[in-house]
Parts: sequence; C-alpha cells; structure tokens
Amino acid sequence: MSDKIALVTGAASGIGKAVALGFAAHGERVIAADLDEAAAKATAQEYPELITALPVDVANRAQVDLLRDRAQAEVGAPTIIVNAAGWDRTDQFLNATTEFAEKVVAINYLGPVHVCSAFLPGMIAAGGGRVVNLASDAGRVGSAGETIYAGAKGGVIAFTKSLAREMARHQITVNCVCPGPTDTPLFHAQPEKLKEALVKAIPFRRLARPEEVAAAVLFFASDSASFITGQVISVSGGLTMAG
Ligand SMILES: NC(=O)c1ccc[n+]([C@@H]2O[C@H](COP(=O)([O-])OP(=O)(O)OC[C@H]3O[C@@H](n4cnc5c(N)ncnc54)[C@H](O)[C@@H]3O)[C@@H](O)[C@H]2O)c1
Repeated sequence: MSDKIALVTGAASGIGKAVALGFAAHGERVIAADLDEAAAKATAQEYPELITALPVDVANRAQVDLLRDRAQAEVGAPTIIVNAAGWDRTDQFLNATTEFAEKVVAINYLGPVHVCSAFLPGMIAAGGGRVVNLASDAGRVGSAGETIYAGAKGGVIAFTKSLAREMARHQITVNCVCPGPTDTPLFHAQPEKLKEALVKAIPFRRLARPEEVAAAVLFFASDSASFITGQVISVSGGLTMAG
C-alpha cells in the first residue's frame, strides 16, 4: 500500500472511475467523490480497503468544503487531485437557456475551481502534490453543439496553466488531459448520428476506452511527471493534433 491519497471527482462513472481504479491498482488510497453516491460506492467496492466513496456536488462550494472536511477526517488530506466530474448535453448554442449555460459552467469550470480552492491549502501544507484536470478537445479546437461546454473547458485549460504558475513554488504540478470521444455514458447521451460521424472522423476509427484516458491522468499524477507542469495532452486517437 502506498502512502499517497488521491481525490477523484466524477469517480462513479467513465473516465473518473477508470482513474480511481487505476490508482487503487497501484495501492494508492482514493477518495471517490461524485454526485451519484450509490455509483461511487459501487466503484469503491472494487477495492474496499483502498477506496472511500463520498458524495459531492462540485458546483456547490459549501458541499466541496464539506467533502474536504469529511475526507480529512475519514481518509486524510489528498496530495493528488483529479477533477474528472463533468456534464453536458449536445444542442445548438441558440437553443441554450441561461439555466443550462449556468449549469454547464458551474459543473465544468467552477467545479475544478472550487475543488482546487478547498483542497490546495492542505496539499501545500503537505509539501507538494499533483493536480490533473479533465478538460476536452472541445476546449482546444471547438465543437459544434457543445459551444458553452467548449468555453468552460477552454477555461479549464487556461485555469490549469495559470494555477501551474502559482503552484510551482509549492512543488505542486498542475496539468490537463483533453479526452476526445470516449466510450462513457456522457458520450452515449449524444445523438446517434453525431456519434457515428465522430467515430468516422477519428483516425483510429474507434472511441477511446476510459482506461486509455486514465493512463494519461495517472502519468501526470506519477513521480515520472515531477518536472511537467502547465501542460495539455489530448487523448483522442489523432482526432485533434493541436499545436
Ligand atoms: N466521454 C467523452 O467523450 C469526453 C470527451 C471530452 C471530455 N470529457 C470529460 O471527461 C470527464 C469525465 O467524463 P466521462 O465521459 O467519464 O463522463 P461520465 O458521465 O461517464 O462521468 C461523469 C461523472 O461526473 C459526475 N458528476 C456530474 N456532475 C457532477 C457534479 N456536479 N458533482 C459531482 N459529480 C458530478 C457524474 O455523476 C458522473 O459519475 C468530464 O470532465 C468530461 O467533460 C469526456
């Protein structure tokens, strides 16, 4: 068993779940935080001695503070944070209501902001650590039907770079993984025709498996990435090749 503790938001499903299981497979303690507590508990059951499931709505700062206090009391202060919770529904920008726009920004952008704000003081006190944010290729190159989400994810990329500059003096790296279309419930919520078109556009002609995206997250969180910070990597089978 490692002495590392990783906080993973969105750990109940898809990429976050694959990340949580990846850490546990390396013997690391994991706080699996998600809006869907029952599904987070199912993730935890795969490594009951290593994974603790806790509820959180990352869009709600008071709930994130509560998560930090419970995590500290029940597991300890994490030195790895993975912001994987995310949400969207595909539609044309002109159909978006203000309520929808605020929800997308609150979960996808303010979620990582709240989590970093609440947990970084503990990580600084511990002497260093790792932050890995899940953005999206939509935030690098744009994506029709995901315009507000793309804006929020572009914000996550800029947030990652600026936070990396501020946190370097504390021996904390901050990096960003941009998944392309990945085989998770979030992707499958999109219209069938759009899904088919996206798969056709990927040079590898298939979706990413959540474990393939998790591998990049685990690398950024590992000792091997000790001198890499403020970086953005796409895991997209070549769909995007951003410079
Ligand atoms: N799947 C893709 O094709 C794809 C592509 C690009 C980026 N991403 C990003 O990767 C990350 C993981 O996505 P996924 O595909 O695994 O999605 P998913 O829907 O399988 O999992 C997302 C998890 O986040 C949780 N969640 C949603 N809102 C939350 C909130 N307010 N508070 C706490 N938890 C919340 C959900 O309950 C769910 O368990 C997200 O940030 C997503 O935007 C995914």
